[in-house]
Amino acid sequence: MKAIKTSLVPDFTQDPKLLEQFGENGPYYTSYPTHGDWSNQLGHTDYVKSLKDFFLKNGDAPVHLYIHIPFCAKLCFYCICNIIVTNNRDRMQHFVDYLFREIDLLNNLFSEIGTRPNIKEIHLGGGTPSHLEDEQLEQLVNKLGEIADLKNIYEFAMEIDPRTTSRENLKFYSTLGINRISFGVQDFDSNVQEAINRVQPVEMVEDLLSPDVRACFDGFNFDLLYGLPRQTRKTFENTVDLVKKLAPERITLIKYAHAPELRKHMRLIDAKTLPPTDEMPLMFNDSVQSLTADGYVWVGIGDFAKPSDEMAKAVNEKRAWRDLGGFATGNARNMIGIGPTAGGAIGDAYFQNAYGINEYYKAIDEGQFPIHSGFIMDGDDVLRREVIFRIICDSSLDYEQIETKFAPILSGSFENYFSNELASLARFEEDGILEFNASINRGFSLTPTGRFFGRHVARVFDRFLQRAEGAYEISGP
Ligand SMILES: C[S@@+](CC[C@H](N)C(=O)[O-])C[C@H]1O[C@@H](n2cnc3c(N)ncnc32)[C@H](O)[C@@H]1O
Ligand code: SF4
Repeated sequence: MKAIKTSLVPDFTQDPKLLEQFGENGPYYTSYPTHGDWSNQLGHTDYVKSLKDFFLKNGDAPVHLYIHIPFCAKLCFYCICNIIVTNNRDRMQHFVDYLFREIDLLNNLFSEIGTRPNIKEIHLGGGTPSHLEDEQLEQLVNKLGEIADLKNIYEFAMEIDPRTTSRENLKFYSTLGINRISFGVQDFDSNVQEAINRVQPVEMVEDLLSPDVRACFDGFNFDLLYGLPRQTRKTFENTVDLVKKLAPERITLIKYAHAPELRKHMRLIDAKTLPPTDEMPLMFNDSVQSLTADGYVWVGIGDFAKPSDEMAKAVNEKRAWRDLGGFATGNARNMIGIGPTAGGAIGDAYFQNAYGINEYYKAIDEGQFPIHSGFIMDGDDVLRREVIFRIICDSSLDYEQIETKFAPILSGSFENYFSNELASLARFEEDGILEFNASINRGFSLTPTGRFFGRHVARVFDRFLQRAEGAYEISGP
């Protein structure tokens, strides 16, 4: 209760109309166009062309390298990621060998282009990268050193399952240059943990975060999920209180996506034990109130950072960005993905690698990049991406900034180009979600209540959701 009194963020859940709007489904915009609009007609040749075209002109562009390692020790019933549950060391080594071959393909291509990518961020994700042996991980980092200058990386992050790591492991990772750790926490309630097949008491995480371990890293992130089985407002409030005590530098709060038709193992969760739909916005609002009252900056849709963290600084300086992994500092807007399902964003194109491990191996055996789908944007798409990302990252939009950057495409004023979209925004003004020309001369800002609706406002500019008659369809996860 104390947290609610001291938060500066209004409680939108008191307004039934806003509550209803918040519950609408819609994209979270980790990319624009969103993944559902990408084409599976793109492949190796398109990827090579995009890399060559882009890096021949922009050899110095900062790049974020994402590596997907799909292995996990045990299945979490809620997991939607591309994972393989195994403890077979040979199988994992076989995979690592293929990762190396994909890195070789990239290295050869960059030699042909005559440049080395300016890699500024690396993210080891999965699955559970910490499920690799220390020796395998060291080999992988050394291999990455062939393509990246490891002494000049801003953020070198790794996803870790706290149940399968130790303080010694963590210290070892820091000696490899890894400077940020992301823990899958999800929920600290023992009842919930039992229902999701992931028993991980708070003491386990607390024990890992000793002062000497903390001193080895620039920051820790905790992933939290709301909407899990057996969760209630009260239990989740307790989890958030425990998280605050452990004080990670960043927190990613995501709504649990229950998709048993997509991931059969989710059937192991009894749907009757999921919290009622109308409790979701309340859980989210409670968490925002509690974390902001504690001093966290609410940076993205469900992202929070300590004020001293680079993510909070990026938001203050209006340079944050959405990338395929979620909210990002914007220091490296181009992404190269390695491993199954890994995604890439190269200039005006998006790509994604094959999902299945065999399809992935087959492409590498054929000496091809394992591209499965992608999207090549036109000028209008790039413009709309900027508008959508700026609204979500800055909670405002400055038309003049967009005009300066996109003059040839707009060929006139922002207001003229987006007249239909701006007319559609009137309903958000009526609902107190945004204000026109208030803090920005020509533009709009989200009100404090409107912060909960950034992605709802942004989707007005999504041409893939627009219908001929100008209405806006809602789709997405
Ligand atoms: C690769 S895992 C995190 C690292 C490590 N494997 C672990 O679990 O500790 C990535 C994250 O995806 C999120 N995630 C998994 N399944 C999800 C789902 N069904 N809906 C939303 N987010 C999900 C979780 O927050 C999870 O921490
Ligand atoms: S949540 Fe993490 S540990 Fe659990 S199955 Fe998914 S990737 Fe593996």
